[in-house]
Amino acid sequence: MTQNIYDNEEFFAGYSKLPRSERGLLGAPEWPSLRAMLPEIAGLRVLDLGCGFGWFCRRAQEQSALSVTGIDVSEKMLARAKAESDPAIQYHRADMDSLTLVRGSYDLIYSSLAFHYLKNLGALMGEISGALVPGGRLVFSVEHPMVTAPRYPGWQKDADGTRLWPVNHYLEDGARETNWLVHGVVKQHRSMTTYVNMLIANRLQLLHIEEWGPTDAQAAAMPSLLDERQRPNFLLVSAGRAQ
Ligand SMILES: C[S@@+](CC[C@H](N)C(=O)[O-])C[C@H]1O[C@@H](n2cnc3c(N)ncnc32)[C@H](O)[C@@H]1O
Repeated sequence: MTQNIYDNEEFFAGYSKLPRSERGLLGAPEWPSLRAMLPEIAGLRVLDLGCGFGWFCRRAQEQSALSVTGIDVSEKMLARAKAESDPAIQYHRADMDSLTLVRGSYDLIYSSLAFHYLKNLGALMGEISGALVPGGRLVFSVEHPMVTAPRYPGWQKDADGTRLWPVNHYLEDGARETNWLVHGVVKQHRSMTTYVNMLIANRLQLLHIEEWGPTDAQAAAMPSLLDERQRPNFLLVSAGRAQ
């Protein structure tokens, strides 16, 4: 069973106050890049893995998806998703670490910032590959491996005072316990090699990859985002199910 930290009262309260929780997709600076990686959604059967508050599910429904399903392990996240969504969106509680999916049942599988919590991402990639129709698309984001690698992640300064993000343990895939909103949040580090080879092993062809950084306009509006050019926080991936 996964840690399910989003059902921890204190974590949930902190997470609920983040801009991306209050403003949804518009509060997520990487959203314009993810959106550009998506196919036309009208008429597609869409699955959102780790759907959280359901922001993307609602967006897919507004874009005339044929069906929209959101899966998450957190009762608290799902309760708000359901309360704020049209009943036509189906929400299910499940642990993605042991999820099975019906073969050939989706055209688009989307996941934003959830896969780095999973121990068994390799098995899930197999399920995703089987659940996508040939030509179907997987679009996902994860915390960047430069962020998940260190045992003690954090900014330092180099000799001339420039901000510096030390990276160690990079090739050691596995659990990292971090302090984010509360102590002891468990995330799973994977190198870039691991992510790419998981796609290859599961007949998912890499279409686009982005180590997200702000545009000049985003940086001008929010200068703190310039840190992301020193050390990207997000890895965005689009892959197509081979025929
Ligand atoms: C950072 S939030 C992202 C939520 C949403 N995708 C978004 O971008 O707004 C991560 C979500 O993944 C869910 N999650 C984490 N581990 C999970 C697991 N093993 N199975 C299902 N959902 C999980 C959490 O409950 C949480 O809602």
